[in-house]
Amino acid sequence: KAHSIAVIPGDGIGTEVTPEGVRALKAAAERFNIDLTFEDFDFASCDYYLEHGQMLPDDWKAKLSRFDAIFFGAVGMPEKVPDHVSLWGSLLQFRREFDQYINLRPCKLMPGIKSPLADRQPGEIDFYVVRENTEGEYSSIGGKIFEGTPRETVMQETVMTRTGVDRVLKYAFELARKRPRRKLTSATKSNGISITMPYWDERVKAMHGAYPEVAVDQFHIDILAANFVLHPDWFDVVVASNLFGDILSDLGPACTGTIGVAPSANINPEGDFPSLFEPVHGSAPDIAGQGVANPIGQIWCGAMMLDHLGHEDAGKAILDAIESVLAKADPGVLTPDLKGQGTTRDLAQAIIEAI
Ligand code: NAI
Ligand code: MG
Repeated sequence: KAHSIAVIPGDGIGTEVTPEGVRALKAAAERFNIDLTFEDFDFASCDYYLEHGQMLPDDWKAKLSRFDAIFFGAVGMPEKVPDHVSLWGSLLQFRREFDQYINLRPCKLMPGIKSPLADRQPGEIDFYVVRENTEGEYSSIGGKIFEGTPRETVMQETVMTRTGVDRVLKYAFELARKRPRRKLTSATKSNGISITMPYWDERVKAMHGAYPEVAVDQFHIDILAANFVLHPDWFDVVVASNLFGDILSDLGPACTGTIGVAPSANINPEGDFPSLFEPVHGSAPDIAGQGVANPIGQIWCGAMMLDHLGHEDAGKAILDAIESVLAKADPGVLTPDLKGQGTTRDLAQAIIEAI
């Protein structure tokens, strides 16, 4: 089966790392005989905005719907366009309109990268954070009353629907079931948030009934955050609501070293809409244009995309290639964020050769 991929480089280093990600994907596709086609789009960038007065064309949804996946770089150039305009006008539209209700981030310590946590070795940190990406604490329901008076009051509601909670839990259980440790950790706060979080816990228990082979535990979000730092080796798949997942999905990759290597996926598991794969990092205006951005986050996104498209062997080959190049620790190849003197192209080329 052929897969068509929309490539959206965006801004800054997004335009430098996405072509390398595409080259790596082409190498894996050739080795595993996968039919991938790519089409580039210039929207969802600040230059597009300056020319057209909006981040996306009016018919963006029709343009992108026919693709199997979106391979995205990064968006944002705060000196040209305010961040809330560029992000809300592009990435957040994709997540919402394409019902990408899973935000998936691997937290894996790679060889040759020093964890900021004392004495952690590769193999000791290797888990996923599964974040609910469409509802929960990030509802726009609420308001402000008695504005400007001493009685001024603001409120914002958390919304959890059975469909919304169950579908993210199901995804997390399915993922846990496929991994060797078969372990799922749920982030809760039912001791303090007395309506929505007990409901979340109740749905975890109910879904566990369908997955007896998965071991489940739960932590309140405060001690869970502490345990990410103290005992990252305890975790395999961690599932969380939108807000808790937002926090954990930055904390997790932070425990594994440089931001330049971390990937993420915004997934619509049913495939009704394309899913979107993007590195965790942004457009890095401070190093943009120098050709020294680390391409690993973007290349790893390609591996996640192949997993999602059902080519797990090819995804694994990309990840193995990244690991083998990092393990060699050649300073002539590694980019400056990894304490080397290599360029984006040098590091990508080494990985492509390894693939
Ligand atoms: P950033 O991730 O772009 O940069 C933070 C720091 O990490 C910078 O010092 C940068 O040089 C470094 N860095 C990031 N990626 C790197 C890589 N691949 N290789 C080497 N070093 C790397 O975050 P920042 O500076 O807060 O945001 C810059 C712009 O990016 C803003 O407009 C922001 O809104 C946008 N942004 C977009 C995201 C997205 O498209 N999903 C995510 C985060 C930020
Ligand atoms: Mg975040």
